[in-house]
Order: sequence, then C-alpha cells, then structure tokens
Amino acid sequence: MSRRTLILGATSAIAAEVAALCAARGDRLYLIGRDPSKLQALVARLGSAVAGHLAADLNDLASAGEHVRTAIASLGGLDRALIAHGLLGDQPRSERDLEHAREILDTNFTSAVALLMPLADHFEAQGHGHLAAITSVAGERGRPRNYTYGAAKRGLGCYLEGLRSRLYRSGVRVHNIKLGPVPTPMSAGHPQNFLWGDKAAVARGIVQAMERRWHTVYLPRRWALVMAIVRGLPEFVFQRLSFLAGR
Ligand SMILES: NC(=O)c1ccc[n+]([C@@H]2O[C@H](COP(=O)([O-])OP(=O)(O)OC[C@H]3O[C@@H](n4cnc5c(N)ncnc54)[C@H](OP(=O)(O)O)[C@@H]3O)[C@@H](O)[C@H]2O)c1
Repeated sequence: MSRRTLILGATSAIAAEVAALCAARGDRLYLIGRDPSKLQALVARLGSAVAGHLAADLNDLASAGEHVRTAIASLGGLDRALIAHGLLGDQPRSERDLEHAREILDTNFTSAVALLMPLADHFEAQGHGHLAAITSVAGERGRPRNYTYGAAKRGLGCYLEGLRSRLYRSGVRVHNIKLGPVPTPMSAGHPQNFLWGDKAAVARGIVQAMERRWHTVYLPRRWALVMAIVRGLPEFVFQRLSFLAGR
C-alpha cells in the first residue's frame, strides 16, 4: 500500500524536492503551503500523486487542528508528516520590533507545536507513523547573526526530543532534521562556501532519515562534525571568532 504523506510548508524549495521524491516512489500526498501560485505549480508538477492540497498561513494557529484533520480525511489516513516551513527573518529588526520577533518565533516554533499536537495524537492512537520537522544548526549556538531564529529552532528541537520519548513505546518515530545552509530563497544573498549543501541531496537525506528511522540527522552529514566542534568551543573562545560571533 502506498504511503500517505502530509507535507506542511510544501512550497519551500527543500520541501518541494522531498514531495517530488515521495511522489516518484508512489506516496499519496497532501500538500499545505502558503503561496497559492507556488502551490498550484507544485501540484501540477506532481500530478496524480497529490490527493489534496490547501493554501494556508500556518501562523493561523487556531486552524492547525482542522488542517491536520482535513489532510487525514483526504488521504484516508496518515503514515508520514513533514513540517518544513520556516522564516529566517531580519535579526537586527527582531531585536527592536517585538512583532517581528514574534513572527519568527511563531513561524519556526509555535506553529510547528500547533501542528505537532494533533499529529502526535493521531499517530499515537493508530500506533505507528513518522513525524519529522526541519530545524537548523543555527539552533545549536546562539549567534548575533540569527539568534531569534536559532532560539525558535532550538526550542523546536527540544520539543521533538520530548515528543519522541513520549511516543517511543507507541511505535511512532519522531525525526529532527537539522539542516546546515542550503541555497534556497531563505538563504539568498548569503555568501556560500564548501560547507553548503544542495537541496536535492538534502531532500534525499530527509527521506532516508525517515526510512532508516534516524531520530536526529544533520544534513549535509558533515555538519555533525562541524557542530560537534562548534558546540565544544568555550564561550570566551567563541566570542573571539568573528566568523561565528560576528554580525
Ligand atoms: N536554506 C537554508 O539554508 C536552511 C538552513 C537551515 C534550516 N532551514 C530550514 O529548512 C526549511 C525549508 O526552508 P527552505 O530553505 O526550503 O526555504 P524557503 O524555500 O524560503 O522555504 C520557506 C517556506 O516557509 C514558508 N512559510 C513561511 N512562513 C509561513 C507561514 N506562516 N505559513 C506557511 N508557510 C510559511 C514559505 O512560504 P512562502 O512560499 O509563502 O514564502 C516558504 O515556502 C525551513 O524550516 C528552514 O528554516 C533552511
């Protein structure tokens, strides 16, 4: 039987690649994205693999439960869900403008929690399923460049960790996909280097993490080593390294 997969934030450059891989292997998909024209283009690209789709702003927290119920009803059940939407935002602005800080925190943390609550209950009741969310290496150390975004992603990682242990005995798997930088609209204009990933390879890694039941995965994989080093730096060293602690 083909897998029934829900992708939230489906119009993200990386999520669209994941959706294409899932469609190619025979999954039936329900796609939720904010931008109706990007969503229509993705639905047209994926053809009959898409059982349903919805254009929605996921920061409308009160509608999260209904979105999840609609997706489950359209697919006739659910086996996998990926939460992919995110907002880097403007770090200096988020330090002065509480509304912008809230938008970053809601998009990367609160809206994901609002979706994880009904998804976790559904998977727990059925006794199987895979729940994955995309976090970021930015959540591993607070950096002046992106600490509002990083704080939200770290919070989401902690939430996923607790949820994973809650659901472990029910057979449900919870995956934290920790991404390093990847060229997408979110990172447009940022200077790239050899550590950057490629969105197609990262998408394959996300699908593989769910197949192989890896609960936490760094993508590209080299970021596991990079972050082990960065996490281990004492703060007085970290603060003297401008490529880490600079703006
Ligand atoms: N690219 C990187 O370097 C990088 C690194 C680490 C982690 N990540 C994470 O990877 C994930 C995918 O991002 P990406 O790189 O593929 O960037 P992207 O193409 O810019 O995708 C971000 C997506 O989030 C959606 N979104 C933002 N706010 C939303 C809201 N309130 N409701 C619904 N959708 C919303 C955007 O929708 P619209 O199309 O309507 O704008 C967009 O489709 C994100 O969680 C991001 O934080 C990315």
